[in-house]
Amino acid sequence: MSYGFRGRALRSAAAMAIVSALSTPVLADELFYVSGAVGNAVENFAMLVKPWEEATGHKVTLVPMPASTTDQFGQYRLWLAAGATDIDLYQTDVIWAPQLADHFVDLTEAAKDLAPTHFPSIIQSQTVNGKLVALPLFTDAPALYYRKDLLEKYGVAVPKTWSELAAGAKVIQDGERAAGKGDFHGFVWQGNAYEGLTCDALEWVKSHGGGQIVEPDGTISINNPNAVAALEEAKSWVGTISPQGVLAYQEEEARGVWQTGNAAFMRNWPYAYTLGNGNDSAVKDLFGVTTLPVGKEGDTSAATLGGWNVAVSKYSAHQEAAVSLAMYLAGPEAQKARALAESNLPTIVALYDDAEIGAAQPIIPQWKDVFLNAVPRPSAPTLGKYNEVSSKFWSAVHQTLSGNGTAAENLEMLEADLTELKGDAW
Ligand code: GLC
Repeated sequence: MSYGFRGRALRSAAAMAIVSALSTPVLADELFYVSGAVGNAVENFAMLVKPWEEATGHKVTLVPMPASTTDQFGQYRLWLAAGATDIDLYQTDVIWAPQLADHFVDLTEAAKDLAPTHFPSIIQSQTVNGKLVALPLFTDAPALYYRKDLLEKYGVAVPKTWSELAAGAKVIQDGERAAGKGDFHGFVWQGNAYEGLTCDALEWVKSHGGGQIVEPDGTISINNPNAVAALEEAKSWVGTISPQGVLAYQEEEARGVWQTGNAAFMRNWPYAYTLGNGNDSAVKDLFGVTTLPVGKEGDTSAATLGGWNVAVSKYSAHQEAAVSLAMYLAGPEAQKARALAESNLPTIVALYDDAEIGAAQPIIPQWKDVFLNAVPRPSAPTLGKYNEVSSKFWSAVHQTLSGNGTAAENLEMLEADLTELKGDAW
């Protein structure tokens, strides 16, 4: 993968940095921060870093990456393996810490006062063999978004089980299509073959009592009847209540359909909350959020734990400034600004009692328990092999959803593949 714009931007910026270093005595650094972005994250970045730039005199340039966390990971791994010196900070997914730990600066000492203000489990997720490899920016746990107006219009209750969701989605979809909205869909989600599908499918499996792919003790659990039932149920949505094209959707495609008023239900992360209530949104003030459904009564709802962090590259020539920026972005001022602008869930405990955040983004206090109970992907037990585990899982799921083999066949093969990958130990 090559992003020509990036090379050019970095080269010319480097040239400018040399010119300014020669012509002025000011010791200002220019930092490069790479990050994928969904929603309005790119536009908001300048606003987020401005107070830090003003306070320090340094400058930060955002190098935007593709939205898919899978594509970002592939690119970052190449840059880091090559010891790329032109990138100072990486925005990192919660699942990457064990795999990329060696390339990042240990932030334990710098963050010794800041870290204890965050939820301990999140700090823990970014700690590898005692090294704090990244500082949390925000955490993530998805919601079921539903159209209040349409549920009321069709007498559909907020669904508790996946089958109630499918039945309600069908009633609303039939009604809206009959009324002339040919592009209307019952339920949109993330069905593309990438990390996002691992998140969605882990929720279906776990909420059917089918475990979490690989358990915290390292046991491969995915080949079981509840997981099979969960995937067969999801397959039944494709081409019925969900468009066939859902098999290529990531977060932003689902949000596009939803936000133009063309879906009754959507599974998505909290960032879609503030965007859905924006002035340009067809669903402004028309939707509610609830926890994801369960397989059957008695099962527990499952939300996959997501979230993003900032890491400082060991290969950066500006480590001191980069650490200072990471500390700022993981601190209370920037986390609050991000919560207000992007409805991202803070990781600093006290911000859940912040009245301004609660008033502007009610999903945030409402979602505290959801993320505290969220299901982690098996990145901790599978260590450096997580990416392969996940890609084998999302491939098996994508095959099933596409009608290439049954869930039972695909999960049996997945179990064999994972067993081989594991070998004697993860
Ligand atoms: C969200 C989550 C991240 C996850 C990704 C999958 O960005 O925060 O953890 O990997 O979605 O698409």
